[in-house]
Amino acid sequence: MATLVTAIVRPHALDGVKNSLKAAGITGITASEVKGFGRQGGQTETYRGAEYKIDFLPKIKLEIIVTDDLVDTVISTISAAASSGKIGDGKIWTIPVGTLVRIRTGELGDEAV
Ligand SMILES: Nc1ncnc2c1ncn2[C@@H]1O[C@H](COP(=O)(O)OP(=O)(O)OP(=O)(O)O)[C@@H](O)[C@H]1O
Ligand SMILES: [Mg+2]
Repeated sequence: MATLVTAIVRPHALDGVKNSLKAAGITGITASEVKGFGRQGGQTETYRGAEYKIDFLPKIKLEIIVTDDLVDTVISTISAAASSGKIGDGKIWTIPVGTLVRIRTGELGDEAV
């Protein structure tokens, strides 16, 4: 079975997270530029050394499909690479993948990861 791991991280954490995930053997990552806010809402949060008091801050959304045996590794790897200990470090969540297809070969499920 395959699982989709979604993570929201700070933009400056992206390179470190990517390198750590590649070192852990992850073969594919989708990264998107997104905006978001967490439970502090309009409170100030630091971004690139400046304090902002706005609802939405730039974040990166990572989507990583892995076989189930790698889910814990992916979560701990992202956590370690993206943590500063300050508010706004982000979140990670998982969703079971239904159908997964590698378009080129027609492979399905775990073989298509
Ligand atoms: N409940 C949520 N649903 C969807 N996205 C969320 C949620 N909480 C946080 N996010 C996303 O994660 C980003 C970072 O959230 P953040 O780290 O501030 O969460 P938090 O719960 O407020 O934790 P902290 O107290 O450490 O700041 C947000 O900008 C948003 O994009
Ligand atoms: Mg927050």
